Amino acid sequence: MIKLKNIKKSFVLGEEKVKALDDVSLEIEKGDFIAIIGPSGSGKSTLMNILGLLDVPDSGEYLFDEKEVSNLSDNDLAEIRNKKIGFVFQNFNLLPKMNAIENIQVPLLYRGMTDKESKDRALEVLKKVGLKGREQHLPSQLSGGQQQRVAIARAIAGNPEIILADEPTGALDSKTSEEVMEQLKELNEKGQTIILITHDINVAKKAKKIIEILDGKLK
Ligand SMILES: Nc1ncnc2c1ncn2[C@@H]1O[C@H](COP(=O)(O)OP(=O)(O)OP(=O)(O)O)[C@@H](O)[C@H]1O
Ligand SMILES: [Mg+2]
Repeated sequence: MIKLKNIKKSFVLGEEKVKALDDVSLEIEKGDFIAIIGPSGSGKSTLMNILGLLDVPDSGEYLFDEKEVSNLSDNDLAEIRNKKIGFVFQNFNLLPKMNAIENIQVPLLYRGMTDKESKDRALEVLKKVGLKGREQHLPSQLSGGQQQRVAIARAIAGNPEIILADEPTGALDSKTSEEVMEQLKELNEKGQTIILITHDINVAKKAKKIIEILDGKLK
């Protein structure tokens, strides 16, 4: 499904060059549930951005469904992102002026669903993540854990093949964190591929496979 080979990505800030990803090779198969664990600054979000086609590597190969990503047009990339990948961002990325339902509807409307279809689907996934009764709330009217669950509901609403989650439990207390992990596990059992990024070993242990990253290198 996904194959990374010798991926490198550096950032230059002034005089300093940071090797955020240093020769990363990784294969992800359908149905995998992988946790990528590493300390702050180790390159986790950089890796997620590349995996999620939000950023491009400086060098190396990236095959998505057997196609080399660097050969795809911006339109192709946008279509893969929208149809095949569900993102849960480190900082939720919810739209502040839209309520929970509307936040989930946005990517579904981009995919061509009608207002009614997308609203029904939003209500369905909100129920699934335990947010029934909070549908009309704005992000600012929800707790951190509830916002996180809206972000997860948004990621799963389009039934993506892959869920990329960057610290999905980072802002949560341990009980809510377990609930979120249970939900991801359930989705994985139904066949969804999950890549989870975390610095918490107890969260990582819930995945089927743990990959460590340190100074931009996989161990
Ligand atoms: N846009 C950027 N410009 C300059 N340096 C960057 C940029 N993005 C990331 N970096 C640097 O690349 C390295 C890896 O950053 P990254 O965000 O991938 O780390 P992370 O593992 O996600 O950390 P955290 O756990 O704190 O989220 C860091 O040293 C960071 O300072
Ligand atoms: Mg990060």
